[in-house]
Amino acid sequence: MIYNFFVNSQEEFSSHPIVQSSIYYGQYDNRNSCWDPNKKGIISPVRCFVYKFLLPHTQLSQSCNVFEIGCGTGWLLAEIKKYEPNIIIGIDPSIKNINIAKHLYPDLQIHCSSFENFKTNDKYNSIYSVMTLSHFLDLESFFIRCANIMEVNGELIIVVPNFDYFQRPRFGYMSELVHFDSQCAIRIKNKSGSLSQIIRKNEVYHKAANQAGLSLLTEKLMKIDEDLVTEEPKYKENFGLPMHNLIVYKK
Ligand SMILES: C[S@@+](CC[C@H](N)C(=O)[O-])C[C@H]1O[C@@H](n2cnc3c(N)ncnc32)[C@H](O)[C@@H]1O
Repeated sequence: MIYNFFVNSQEEFSSHPIVQSSIYYGQYDNRNSCWDPNKKGIISPVRCFVYKFLLPHTQLSQSCNVFEIGCGTGWLLAEIKKYEPNIIIGIDPSIKNINIAKHLYPDLQIHCSSFENFKTNDKYNSIYSVMTLSHFLDLESFFIRCANIMEVNGELIIVVPNFDYFQRPRFGYMSELVHFDSQCAIRIKNKSGSLSQIIRKNEVYHKAANQAGLSLLTEKLMKIDEDLVTEEPKYKENFGLPMHNLIVYKK
């Protein structure tokens, strides 16, 4: 079942309860099941799918300073650490996710903090944010904060929900969508609880990134492939459709 709502201004959109719940950090702590139910890091079909697209970037991490915004249970940092970066650090405001990350990867430097509250004097060559930007309402501030802690020629690598895919009915979940302009907030309810996020067309990210002085380097549609369908047959009905987008900006 899908319920659609339409609002007429950015103000109405920003104050809508579904948008407000999208930026509420506590939603990951309140769900009945945790973000990583098997507590097995990268051994998840969707993570393997995402990692295939990130691999060409993570391989560049040797002797670099690496930072991840919204590291969740730490699987990506654990993979990147294998390339022996100089500094590698992750943050996430969810206590549940951070506790799992610390349990799975005791050697990682991970802090329980939102990006907005995190302070660092270091500069980073690679900043990752995977499936996390959909919990930020103020994109301009997000990109400015990233640009401020990036080295010149550094990369910001983001994975974001594909705007069309995330509006489709999926797996019988109940979805509520609020639409304004090139963005939409979506609340999905399933047996694990509810999860809200803001999805946008890529041009919305590009505009905010450009305003922060970052330029677009790569943009890739992450299409559901044979490997994902084999591991997780529920994706078969959407085979070939882009589920996420990978975007890389350069300072
Ligand atoms: C969909 S999960 C993705 C987690 C991880 N990147 C992964 O791929 O498994 C989104 C994560 O963003 C985190 N998050 C939400 N708001 C945030 C904020 N303001 N700053 C940093 N992380 C945030 C959540 O706590 C959650 O762990």
